[in-house]
Amino acid sequence: MEVKADARKFYEIECDALAVGVYEGEKPEAGVLSEIDRRSGGVITSLIEAGELTGKVGETAYVHNPGDLKARRLLLLGAGRPEDFNTDGVRRMAGTAARLLRGKKARSFAFLRRSRLPLVESAQAAVEGALLALYDPDKYRTSEQTEDHLKEMILAAGDGDAGELGRGVERGRILGEATNFARELVNEPSNVMTPSELARRAEEVAKTYGLGVDVLDEARMKELGMGALLGVAQGSAEPARLIVLRYTPAAAAAETVALVGKGITFDTGGISIKPSEGMEKMKYDMAGGATTIAAMRAIAQLKPAVNVIGIVPTTENMPGGRAQRPGDVVRSMAGKTIEVINTDAEGRLILADALAYARELGATRIVDLATLTGAVSIALGDVYVAVMGNDADWIARLIAAGKRTGEKIWELPLDREYREQIKSEIADLKNVGGRKAGTITAAYFLREFVGETPWAHLDIAGTAWNDSAKAHLSAGPSGVCVRTLVNLVEGVG
Ligand code: BES
Ligand code: MN
Ligand code: ZN
Repeated sequence: MEVKADARKFYEIECDALAVGVYEGEKPEAGVLSEIDRRSGGVITSLIEAGELTGKVGETAYVHNPGDLKARRLLLLGAGRPEDFNTDGVRRMAGTAARLLRGKKARSFAFLRRSRLPLVESAQAAVEGALLALYDPDKYRTSEQTEDHLKEMILAAGDGDAGELGRGVERGRILGEATNFARELVNEPSNVMTPSELARRAEEVAKTYGLGVDVLDEARMKELGMGALLGVAQGSAEPARLIVLRYTPAAAAAETVALVGKGITFDTGGISIKPSEGMEKMKYDMAGGATTIAAMRAIAQLKPAVNVIGIVPTTENMPGGRAQRPGDVVRSMAGKTIEVINTDAEGRLILADALAYARELGATRIVDLATLTGAVSIALGDVYVAVMGNDADWIARLIAAGKRTGEKIWELPLDREYREQIKSEIADLKNVGGRKAGTITAAYFLREFVGETPWAHLDIAGTAWNDSAKAHLSAGPSGVCVRTLVNLVEGVG
């Protein structure tokens, strides 16, 4: 889909549909709404009187031949209360419009700017919203695939500054496309998306967008002493990889942010095997890794003034004849020994070595993200991402970046008391902490591998997959945290 700006009056723009937000309780008494009402022979007044248009969030009203407009259809969208309205409202409305109008076979639509939100941000959000809405995970369907009729989005921003508008559109395009790229990676089935294939896709990103790349094979991991990662990989016929992407700004920067993403391309649980019910969803256990690669892709285009490395430890977790056993003890790169009580707690094992490697590569700040625990869905459902870390300021900046990008992040505590639960009888640590506070003890385990480096961990197991479709989003991979990570990094540089 092309996006362009049009400075003409909204009623002069040729398009299949004009999409307009209506606030809760708003009457067509002044401004654009009254103008539309007048040009359409009172259609807004009539919809309001019939109770079909109240302005509540999620509401839509679709009008054919709306009168004296160059648009052939009019789509009115509930915007909710004006005092609650923010860029996430723009994203949702643009997305609802794009998905609904695509279903009506529209080829082009104009999206009318109504709010007083800053122009760059609202244009960005509108473009992101539309791009995210038009993604569908139907690549492998050979019939009834969603057709891509919708070719053009026109931002009707009136007399807004053209430079700012263009900047917002460009940012929205980069971030929307990067998020969809993460969703594409996650959507791939595990027979396609092997660790080697994930590495190949990362190399492709590096080549296209000008990032440094280094893919470590198992021999190099062995030299580095990555016994925790290799222990998980040994049950699989597919070789493990450790992907490193590197962004270096034009001018030397003091800080190096490491983004570290869990890349389990399929999680059977290993010898501590998972129940078969719903196991197919475990292809999304590389969502953290996909998010990392996608964020690096956007960072390469947006060029913040800070060094960034993306690290993705990637392997399957399989119960093969050579698989590690419950009770095995492995030695991590950091030198700490780990008793593997449960082979299904594999994410923290591969991340332990990846975090140690991030420090070795000179990270001054770290964020890791992982579909790490089922327990996070019990705590926060599919609404909030959980964050824990060792640095209050770094966590606060991450939460703030989430607020700016419309991704909800909630902090869970990480007090010293929780460490008791991961003490082992025979090694430095064990890899599970029992039933209580599963999301926290998993994070505490990771904490043991970051030393004093400011670090935050995001558990995206509850949010990386949408179980059901919404008006503005398909079901399936969500791409959560791509935009937050990029925004966070931009704030450091
Ligand atoms: N990949 C899973 C976490 C997960 C579970 C994500 C369910 C989405 C839905 C992770 O590797 C895992 O298996 N975690 C275990 C940890 C337990 C063995 C301590 C879990 O959450 O059950
Ligand atoms: Mn597991
Ligand atoms: Zn897992």
